[in-house]
Amino acid sequence: MYMKISPSILSADFANLERDIRLVEEGGADYIHVDVMDGHFVPNLTFGANIVSAIRPITKLPLDCHLMIENPENFIEDFAKAGADIITVHVESTPHIHRAIQLIKNQGVKAGVVINPGTAVESIMPILSEVDMVLVMTVNPGFGGQSFIKETVSKIASLYRLKKDKGYHFEIEVDGGISPETAKICKDAGANVFVAGSYIYGAKNPVERLMTLKDAVRR
Ligand code: DX5
Ligand code: ZN
Repeated sequence: MYMKISPSILSADFANLERDIRLVEEGGADYIHVDVMDGHFVPNLTFGANIVSAIRPITKLPLDCHLMIENPENFIEDFAKAGADIITVHVESTPHIHRAIQLIKNQGVKAGVVINPGTAVESIMPILSEVDMVLVMTVNPGFGGQSFIKETVSKIASLYRLKKDKGYHFEIEVDGGISPETAKICKDAGANVFVAGSYIYGAKNPVERLMTLKDAVRR
């Protein structure tokens, strides 16, 4: 399976966002990861759909929008209209995850579900046939630059097994504390999309980091 890197603009230079997005696009990124936080579902605030409209014209890459917000159903249309290609919602953020996934699909956007480190794979079992992506959080959401939680790896492996056994088509994405070492561990467990924020944008040369990461999951 093709291995994809999704740089998270959370760690980019917001005053030079266009430059930082073009940099990773030219460097071979596969998606752009957009971390949306509301200060309620997670203890941090970032940006809303307006950032998606702003960056939509400057990149051809699919915009991978990770919603860490309460009542995600109320914002799906805004993100779709703004130009999101993938919208992922946390199972912990709504009592109506099935409805949320349907709303995303009705907008013609790829739909994904996210599970926190403390959430079991069983909680999303009933919707696995419906989703295009499952995002396994490898840190507690809210901030960039945290350490990888290794206990999440067995969940990647269970999802990969379920995917093969039942013939599901979803991609398995990992997010949080991703470096060449942790990416390789996740790849061996079955992940194929790797979000990286501080590893890529925290460096002087983000493109070099991106390539090192690509290389680590290629083998
Ligand atoms: C965390 C976000 C991540 C974050 C990852 O809540 O969902 O996407 O940007 O940052 P790093 O790669 O620095 O752990
Ligand atoms: Zn994220």
